[in-house]
Amino acid sequence: MRIFHLSAECYPVAKVGGLADVVGALPKYQNLAGMQAAVVMPYYDRKFVRENEFETVFSAATLLGTRRLYFEILKEKTDKLGFELYLVKIPGLIDREEVYSYPDEREQFIAYQLAFLDWISYSQQTPDIIHCHDHHSGLVPFLMQYSKLYTRLARIPTVFTIHNGQYHGAFGWDKLSYLPEIDLSKTGLLDWAGGINPLAAAVKCCWKYTTVSPSYLEELTTNSNGLEYLFYLEHAKGYGIINGIDTEVWDPKTDPMIAENFSVKLPAKGKEANKVALCARFGLSLDKPLVAFIGRLVIEKGADLLAAAMEESFNEHPGQFNFLLLGAGDKDLEQELLQLRDFYPDQFNVFIGYDEALAHLVYAGADFLLMPSRVEPCGLNQMYSMRYGTLPMVRSTGGLKDTVVDFGDEGGYGIRYDNASVEDICGAVSRAIVLYDNNKHLQTLRKIMMALDFSWDRSAKEYINLYESLNPVI
Ligand code: ADP
Ligand code: GLC
Repeated sequence: MRIFHLSAECYPVAKVGGLADVVGALPKYQNLAGMQAAVVMPYYDRKFVRENEFETVFSAATLLGTRRLYFEILKEKTDKLGFELYLVKIPGLIDREEVYSYPDEREQFIAYQLAFLDWISYSQQTPDIIHCHDHHSGLVPFLMQYSKLYTRLARIPTVFTIHNGQYHGAFGWDKLSYLPEIDLSKTGLLDWAGGINPLAAAVKCCWKYTTVSPSYLEELTTNSNGLEYLFYLEHAKGYGIINGIDTEVWDPKTDPMIAENFSVKLPAKGKEANKVALCARFGLSLDKPLVAFIGRLVIEKGADLLAAAMEESFNEHPGQFNFLLLGAGDKDLEQELLQLRDFYPDQFNVFIGYDEALAHLVYAGADFLLMPSRVEPCGLNQMYSMRYGTLPMVRSTGGLKDTVVDFGDEGGYGIRYDNASVEDICGAVSRAIVLYDNNKHLQTLRKIMMALDFSWDRSAKEYINLYESLNPVI
C-alpha cells in the first residue's frame, strides 16, 4: 500500500514541535510493517536540505489566482530516513528558512497543496492513501473531490490527522480565487463561521479523521476554538490513535546527545552523570530535586503559569528544589521568566531558544518534567521523559491523561493534577519534593516508567488497519 503523508514539518528536515517528530517516525515504522510510506513537505532552506542530495522528479507550473508559479518536486536520493522524502519547491514562495509565520503563509500552504495535487494528478504517482496532517494540507481532501482539475484523484481515500485543533488556518472568502475551478455548489464544505476554514473543510471532506490520542477525540467536541459543533457532528468518522515515539532516536542507551548513556537495568549512575552535566552548565546545585520544563512558551502549554507557580513554590519550599526551563515563544513570557532568574540565581535558570541536543540532556538529567498544559492533543515530552527515567508531572488532559498514571493509583508512576492552575502546579511540586526524599520509591517508579512501551509499532499498525478499512483500490 502506497501512502503519501503531507505535512509542514518532518524531523530532521524541519521541526517546530511534535508534528515533526511524528511525521519523521510514523512512515518509517509503517514501512517496517510492509507499507510504502512517503512524506511530501514544503521545501525549506535548512541544514538537512543543504547537506543532502536531491533530484528533481517533476516540474511544472501551477496557478495561484492569476499568479503562475513554477514548481519542482525534489526527492531525497538515498531514502536514508527510512522513507521517501519529497519537497515541494516554489522559488520566491516556498524556499525559505522558517516553517511558519510569514505574512504570506496562507499563499504558501495553498500553493504547496496545489503543487502536490498537480504532481500526482499529472504524473504516474498514484498513492493508495493520502494522509494529511493538520490544516496546512487540510484543503487537499476537498480539492480531490470537488475541483475539476483533480477528478482523477476523487476515489483515493484520504485520512486527516489532527495534531492541534486550536489552529485552523482560516482565511477570508476574498482568497477563494486562489483555488482552482471548484464545484460552486460545494463551497459550504469549505466554510466555517463565515470564512474558508481548512481544518473544518478537512474534517468534513476526509474519509476518516484521527486525533493523536483517544481523550483528545472527545475533548475536541468541547474545546476546539470554535469547531466544537463540527466535531460533535462528525464524531462517528473520528478515531483516537495515540502517538508513539521513535525509540531509535530517543534511546538513553545510545543517545549521542547526552552526557552518559544508561539503561533501564541500572539507570541511577547515568542519570546522575547527566544531572551533574546539566547542573554545572546552568549553575544549579546537585543535591536538590531538579524539575524541568521543555516546550513552546504559549498559553496552551500553561507557560503563563510557570513564573507565578515557581515563585510560590520557592517561597513554600525555600531551597528545596531547582527549576530549569528550555523554551521559546511569547516574548512577554520569555521576559518574565528571565527576570525571575535574578531572584533565585542558584535555583532557577532558563534557556530561551530552541536546542534539540539540550532537550535530550534535560530529559536525561532532570528528575521531574512539568507539563501543566491547558490543551495537549498527545504530548511527546512526557513519553521522552519517562523513557529517560524522568518522572512526568502532568495536567490530566488529552494525551497526558492517556499516557501517565498517577503514582498514587494502582500501577502508577507519574504525578497528575486536574487543573492548569498555580495552585495545582504547587501541589505537584510539593509531592515531587516528598517523593525525591524517598529515593527507593523514586528508583522503583523510574524503572517502571523506563520499561513502558511507547514505541510506534502498535500505533503504526492501528493506522494501517484504518487505511485497510477504507478499501483503497490497489
Ligand atoms: P508540541 O508539538 O505541541 O510543541 P509535543 O510534546 O508533541 O508538543 O512535542 C514537542 C517537541 O518539541 C518535543 O520533541 C520537544 O522535545 C521539542 N521541543 C519543544 N521546545 C523545545 C526547545 N525549546 N528546544 C528543543 N526542543 C524543544
Ligand atoms: C501537536 C500537539 C502535541 C502533539 C503533537 C504531535 O503539536 O500540540 O500535543 O504531541 O502535535 O502529534
